[in-house]
Amino acid sequence: MNNYQRGYGPTGKHSNPATSVLSRGKTLTDKHHHNTTGKTMTNQQAQQSYDIGMIGLGVMGRNLLLNMADHGYSVAGYDKDQAKVEALRRESTEQTIAAKTGLVDFIALLSQPRSVMLLVPAGAPVDSVIDDLLPHLNIGDLIIDAGNSYFKDTDLRTRKLAAKGIHFLGVGVSGGEHGARHGPCFMVGGQKQAYERVRPILEAAAAKIDGDPCAAWLGHESAGHFVKMVHNGIEYAVMQLIAETYDLMQRNLALNDEEIREVYASWNQGELNGYLIEITEHIFAQQDEKSGGHLIDKIVAVAKQKGTGMWTSQSAMELQVPIPTIDLAVAMRDLSGFVKERQQAGAIYQLALPRFAGDRSVFLNQLGRALFASTIIVYAQGMALLKVASSQYKYHLDLEAVARIWRGGCIIRAALLDDIRLAFRTKRYLANLLLAPNLAQKLIDHQDDLRQVVCHALTSGVPTPGFMASLAYFDAYRSLWLPANLIQAQRDYFGAHSYERNDADGTFHTEWDKP
Ligand code: 6PG
Repeated sequence: MNNYQRGYGPTGKHSNPATSVLSRGKTLTDKHHHNTTGKTMTNQQAQQSYDIGMIGLGVMGRNLLLNMADHGYSVAGYDKDQAKVEALRRESTEQTIAAKTGLVDFIALLSQPRSVMLLVPAGAPVDSVIDDLLPHLNIGDLIIDAGNSYFKDTDLRTRKLAAKGIHFLGVGVSGGEHGARHGPCFMVGGQKQAYERVRPILEAAAAKIDGDPCAAWLGHESAGHFVKMVHNGIEYAVMQLIAETYDLMQRNLALNDEEIREVYASWNQGELNGYLIEITEHIFAQQDEKSGGHLIDKIVAVAKQKGTGMWTSQSAMELQVPIPTIDLAVAMRDLSGFVKERQQAGAIYQLALPRFAGDRSVFLNQLGRALFASTIIVYAQGMALLKVASSQYKYHLDLEAVARIWRGGCIIRAALLDDIRLAFRTKRYLANLLLAPNLAQKLIDHQDDLRQVVCHALTSGVPTPGFMASLAYFDAYRSLWLPANLIQAQRDYFGAHSYERNDADGTFHTEWDKP
């Protein structure tokens, strides 16, 4: 079994019960309330006995609650939408789950100090739920925002709530619907003490790799949401790279869906092993009941986004950290939406894609190796961004811990993360993964494949901007010489911006010999 698959999903119930600071395992029914020792509880006791509350019973919130209940915690859910409350009740086989449509009733269920998790859409809904909650909370209660919130919003909320004596954690949760139900990855930011209160629950619910939970406190304030944002940036870029391999296989090599599926299946057995490759194989196996063909061929080729990839690029620009493959992935989702313009451009610049004339199996091997090289480069860009953000925003991130928890539960989990973890274990303050000996050796071994694939794509006319950006980043990063002296000269020429010399200290300006 593959490394990341081995740890996917919870390993069992009731882990770490002795260290739990929370009441656990109480059984409640409508009429009589019993705890696990079989003693009858009074209504008053029953009313303040739930370990954690969840606001937002959409698919993620519901599944996460069910997951926590599986691990012996009593959980209460709240949603204004009666249908969502009913959906949770229907799926609740455990008696330790309560669901309410009234906020006051919901709050009354929670043991004190209270822990309330929010899984609502990022942005204004988070503030509105917090405003609704505040009048019902006491000093020392804890709010956990488990959505994909923008990290600067998390900082503001943390400070606003701290002033009122309310603890706040910004938690990045990855793994989608299945992960939420069977073991996600939790990237936690906020006060460490507040995390300690819910740590047993999150660790129990998280995916495990060799028994090690994919959950960690990563730093203060928005550290967790920042790391989750960069996780998503990496996710966008790897998805774009995989899509480019599909494009080459389909339009240049003329492989059919089943042949493409076989390629992803074989890649998933080797160094490329990871969740995104695995689901891509499954996607190419999916039949469409309606048309009888493969579903992939019926899906409109316009990629949507909820903004986290764009935030990653924006943040990287702000921090002046180059992450060109991630930028390109966001841009390509945008470009996919320009359908009408692309139709017009296609009519003007007609291009007949030449048929592939080489040895398919040789090329497919090269393509897989190019994908692996580019994937390393994408993680290098993402980790380099985390490194700079960590010092700029004083997160004090432990990047080895980030790599460790990303090995399970999350969307970008992959066998490669073991190597990335090792790189940071060997050198904690590594500036860039391309400087790590273990990854450098892999890139040295694979760089020629990446170059060959990019050359082939260029001549074939199939766009592979993700591969190209990765290769260009690699070539620029390893080059001591970049032609930036010319840019400095141009700036000084038209704007008197000055320049530095390589043979003398100080700044200089030249009255250029303007015509
Ligand atoms: C995860 C995913 C998830 C992601 C959404 C929307 O880690 O589980 O990253 O949180 O944000 O699937 O992503 P889009 O921006 O592509 O809509």
